[in-house]
Amino acid sequence: MSEPTFSYPSHLTKRERYESFLKDYEAFIEGEQDFISTLANTSAALHEAFGFFWVGFYLVKEDGWLHLGPFQGSVACTRVKHGRGVCGTAWAEGRTLIVPDVDAFPGHIACSSLSRSEIVVPLVKDGAVIGVLDIDSDHLNAFDEDDQVALEQLVRLL
Ligand code: SME
Repeated sequence: MSEPTFSYPSHLTKRERYESFLKDYEAFIEGEQDFISTLANTSAALHEAFGFFWVGFYLVKEDGWLHLGPFQGSVACTRVKHGRGVCGTAWAEGRTLIVPDVDAFPGHIACSSLSRSEIVVPLVKDGAVIGVLDIDSDHLNAFDEDDQVALEQLVRLL
């Protein structure tokens, strides 16, 4: 396997960066069958390309909770209940949530006091949410529709 890099010139807009990223990423994960390996590399690739403060996955397990999966960033909460926090709400509602200010989101689960804004994108298989992609920023209002469109495209590739 060649060694792809997910670093892009700083003059690119976020949208251009996502376009290049998704092209490289799709080629990179092609042929990889192991789900956890793919999630681990997805976290690393997103972290490298966008410098996110925290990026990773929570996966629905048989006990009916979200459990921490592969991620990049500081240690995080290991379990999230259905309907709780941003992750549990995105799971319950089956839709992407963008939270411009986590302190203004009722029930936000603060794994790190440095986290200021967040986007959570559900992973859907056969109509059911099987996990979520969670990205945190240490800046307010870091995520918008460009992130949502690109990240929803990304999770469909998983
Ligand atoms: N803030 C999330 C919990 C996960 S951490 O951000 C990594 C939430 O409210 O669900």
